[in-house]
Amino acid sequence: MKKQHILIGFLFSILLFSGCQDTDFQPDYVTLNLPSYVPPMIIPDDNPLTKQGIALGRKIYYDQRMHHSQQLSCSSCHKQAHSFTTSQNCMAHINLGWHKAFLWNGGVEGTLEDVAMYELVDFFNTDINVFKNDSAYIRMYKEAFNVNVDEISFKYATYALAQFFRTMNSFNSKYDQWKRGEYVFTQAEWNGYALFYSETGDCFHCHANELFLDNEYHDIGLDLSPSAGRYTVTGKQTDFGKFKTPTLRNIELTTPYMHDGRFQTLEEVMDFYSSGVQNSANLSTLMPVHNGGFNLTSQQKADIIAFLKTLTDINYTTNPDFSAP
Ligand code: HEC
Ligand code: HEC
Repeated sequence: MKKQHILIGFLFSILLFSGCQDTDFQPDYVTLNLPSYVPPMIIPDDNPLTKQGIALGRKIYYDQRMHHSQQLSCSSCHKQAHSFTTSQNCMAHINLGWHKAFLWNGGVEGTLEDVAMYELVDFFNTDINVFKNDSAYIRMYKEAFNVNVDEISFKYATYALAQFFRTMNSFNSKYDQWKRGEYVFTQAEWNGYALFYSETGDCFHCHANELFLDNEYHDIGLDLSPSAGRYTVTGKQTDFGKFKTPTLRNIELTTPYMHDGRFQTLEEVMDFYSSGVQNSANLSTLMPVHNGGFNLTSQQKADIIAFLKTLTDINYTTNPDFSAP
């Protein structure tokens, strides 16, 4: 009895499947080639990566017509040469597929589809007719999602952007080459590595794992009276002054530093961690406040910087797959 049921169910699903099959819609599915030392990237079932979806996302990313003024693209601020950031408080676009929340205060929680929706609809106020009146977009929406012009919606635009983001991965820095046994650290880089992962530097607790982020929020003591940060989202006093831990990958290329871009150089950042830490109300327990910080020698600071620079991946910032289409 049971076997028969399964067989009938099987035949039925074949019929159903072939009945629905659209022979014109054959996207090229893409599998990411990620190193074994990073956790798997979670990709929503309803938005698998395809060559066509990624191409559409890339076009949207570089299109100045996306902003309601028609004069600003994502790439106007997120510039490839700087790991997709620019001046001030802009945030890099690199390995975002592992982030659980976005923006300095984590104001958008969820997936890349969610943050893309926020960017297009709330930030850019994009006019959906830009897509609907453009034959190239109409063709690309059809190829990527099998939708006709009347079905073009922000949902598919955000799906495409999310797909493009999931390909924007950087794992070819000296650090990665060292992980793969293709590069040997210099003495300074090695010393910096040891400090980074020891209680002396203690950087690894927050800039954690191979992504150099913990998906958490901390007040690192930049100011005695910090700006609100995470508090604006949760309304909890204990979140006042906390900001999202940024990744350190490509940090050499993403100056200025911190949520308000207050530091121009990594030397200034290291001076802060060494002796500039303020005893603010929600200061992280990981931050030593005695002597104003980790109290590093100038040699130790220089060594940590040497290590941070091994996280630079020029292949990422020059990869033609991520440049303007
Ligand atoms: C005018 C400059 C500017 C433009 C244009 C711009 N951004 Fe941003 N982006 C920023 C700034 C500044 C932040 C940080 C904002 C904050 O935390 O409040 C940011 C943050 C982000 C983040 C969060 C990254 C993280 O690590 O949490 C994403 C994702 C993002 N932008 C995507 C986009 C997309 C997609 C577009 C185009 C639709 C775009 N941005 C256009 C300036 C810009
Ligand atoms: C308690 C967690 C924590 C520890 C420990 C920590 N960081 Fe950070 N780091 C953060 C957070 C959070 C920010 C963003 C703070 C802000 O802008 O308000 C940050 C920012 C930075 C930045 C600037 C990033 C950018 O994109 O602007 C650098 C560089 C940096 N940290 C390096 C280090 C180094 C090196 C160490 C060890 C000496 C270290 N951090 C220790 C949490 C931490």
